[in-house]
Amino acid sequence: MKTINDINVKGKIVLMRVDVNVPLKEGKITDDLRIRACVPTILRLLEQGAKRIVLISHLGRPEGKRVQEMSLSPVAEALSGLLEKALGQKTEVGFYDLPEMGMKIKIPENVKVALLENLRFDPGEEGNSEEFIKNIIDAVGAEVFVQDGFAVVHRAHASTEAVSKYLPVYAGLLVEKEVANLSKAIDKPEKPVLLIIGGAKVEDKEPLISKFLGIADNIVVGGKIAADGYKAEDKSIYVAEDFDEDGEGKKLDVGPLATAKIAGMITDAKTIIWNGLLGYAEDPAYATASTVVAELMGEHKSAETVVCGGDTAGFVESIMKEHPDLSYSLVSTGGGAALEFLCGKELPGLKVIAE
Ligand code: 3PG
Repeated sequence: MKTINDINVKGKIVLMRVDVNVPLKEGKITDDLRIRACVPTILRLLEQGAKRIVLISHLGRPEGKRVQEMSLSPVAEALSGLLEKALGQKTEVGFYDLPEMGMKIKIPENVKVALLENLRFDPGEEGNSEEFIKNIIDAVGAEVFVQDGFAVVHRAHASTEAVSKYLPVYAGLLVEKEVANLSKAIDKPEKPVLLIIGGAKVEDKEPLISKFLGIADNIVVGGKIAADGYKAEDKSIYVAEDFDEDGEGKKLDVGPLATAKIAGMITDAKTIIWNGLLGYAEDPAYATASTVVAELMGEHKSAETVVCGGDTAGFVESIMKEHPDLSYSLVSTGGGAALEFLCGKELPGLKVIAE
């Protein structure tokens, strides 16, 4: 996979796909992991002397229509703040609407980083339209394309697939890091390998469990899936055996017995992949098992530790704020993309990256 380290961007206009599909509440960003995650690539491209970096992304699912609540404008503001902090000088991220067909976007010379409006306001993005992406390339004068939106590479869209008809695609540092760490977990991982599964939807987790039956020494199933009575068909799968319940007998967290067993498996493992919260962690009363897992994984510096899934990554991020000493090999920004990668699927946005 060719990355931005294999190209010379000096004096060039770079079009860069990011995935800043972040949660918003009343116009405020509630989790900026995906915005922070694209900063290293932007900084590297600036360091390398790029003339300008034009960022493109989607937010939400506006289905080809303009939905003002899904504007990327708050992201431009947040990114300006992060770049200013990193560079130690005011760095305004210019924010521009998507171009009309055949029109140029006029970006002043001094704007080094720009962000365009939500790609999914136009049906061309999800329609994987060559015309749509070509229009953007021409409107901003892009000469190089960088794919750094790891969380969206499982989609065959204009900014992940069709774009490769017009410009060679290079991986950004985030895509490089995600792919390297997720690959390590499935291609000859250091043993013992432990997969921890939680969450609510068993159908979403089955492919991952099946894939890891051939890889993992132990698979743990917790969360609502276990509470609902998941039946393991393989002896390498341990389903949580006790639960913390509320007054009505609802099983809302993995209990102390199971938590202690999972803790032991984490300590022994050399590769740990965690996807899905073990309890109803939104309520601190039922976040105990997930907290134990997050802390033990974050302290286990000699193991490859991968956290994936939107809720799980968000949970770990919040624990890290309180315990900055915790660290992981990867807290993946990709929900669906990371799962599909771990399941060994070919992802359209990775397939088109230059080799
Ligand atoms: C995600 O949040 O998983 C990505 O941004 C992809 O979004 P999508 O599921 O709407 O394609």
